[in-house]
Amino acid sequence: MSIERITVVGAGQMGAGIAQVAAQAGLKVTLTDLTMELAQKGRQGIEKFLRRSVEKGRLSQEDLTGTLQRIEVTDDLRAASDSELIIEAVIERTQVKCDLFSELDSICPPQTIFASNTSSISITELGAVTQRPERVIGMHFMNPVPLMKLVEVIRGQQTADEVHDEVANLSRSMGKTPVTVDDYPGFIANRLLMPMINEAVYCLMENVATKEDIDTVMKLGMNHPMGPLALADLIGLDTCLAIMDVLYEGFGDPKYRPCPLLRRMVRAGLLGMKTKQGFYQY
Ligand SMILES: NC(=O)c1ccc[n+]([C@@H]2O[C@H](COP(=O)([O-])OP(=O)(O)OC[C@H]3O[C@@H](n4cnc5c(N)ncnc54)[C@H](O)[C@@H]3O)[C@@H](O)[C@H]2O)c1
Repeated sequence: MSIERITVVGAGQMGAGIAQVAAQAGLKVTLTDLTMELAQKGRQGIEKFLRRSVEKGRLSQEDLTGTLQRIEVTDDLRAASDSELIIEAVIERTQVKCDLFSELDSICPPQTIFASNTSSISITELGAVTQRPERVIGMHFMNPVPLMKLVEVIRGQQTADEVHDEVANLSRSMGKTPVTVDDYPGFIANRLLMPMINEAVYCLMENVATKEDIDTVMKLGMNHPMGPLALADLIGLDTCLAIMDVLYEGFGDPKYRPCPLLRRMVRAGLLGMKTKQGFYQY
């Protein structure tokens, strides 16, 4: 099966980025969200990114026009029925994703592949709510999607080899490097990254150092391009907490205990860049 048309569900920071790189790779993309306004906001973000690339001489005007023409927006999930691949990028909540996969299962023909961009939720669990667990897979892009080269391709318990190979090849044609990962909590990227971020929040809570100094240690000491607290703000503190909860529950190991300060910030609605206030102000 060749993949030419895809639907991206969720037009937030990740969904919009995925829609953009897919359209830039020549795929026809339907971008959908709960409301038309949210879907359009996603498309506007893509347009802004592409215009900046034209200004900087990294993209031709022709490529900008072509890319935007390949992205359709809608709030009607039924538009997904003629896509060969669905990539889900809605909020990191198991029940929301399970409900969505179950609905998509009734909308799409049996051969359609369902991919999830989840950071940590079990692909096997998502597959199990459908009648096609062998065609359900993880396709975990990194943030910001247009700039980051990695895609973790996650095989659920029943994911077919053929589906794995198609998704890995598609990732390559989108300019990414796929890495195959087995379905365990947090996969590889977040199993390593999130405990580091969580520990940085503990350092802040315990007044070990200021937020700026904690970030400076990792930037200058470990050559990380961003400090962990600034990175948490970029990712979204709600997403960071959701991933820590999955690691904690999934492994049953207290070493993954989410930091109380992280939970308190999420309760306060201070989610990072997307709410203009997290550990830093934006
Ligand atoms: N933020 C990151 O750095 C990052 C990195 C890799 C993966 N992810 C994963 O990507 C997914 C999305 O994260 P994000 O940062 O883009 O979040 P976000 O909050 O920016 O966007 C989520 C979008 O999904 C929409 N949505 C919610 N429920 C929906 C539904 N039922 N149907 C359609 N749309 C729905 C919301 O309206 C919102 O626009 C999560 O699973 C997250 O774990 C995030």
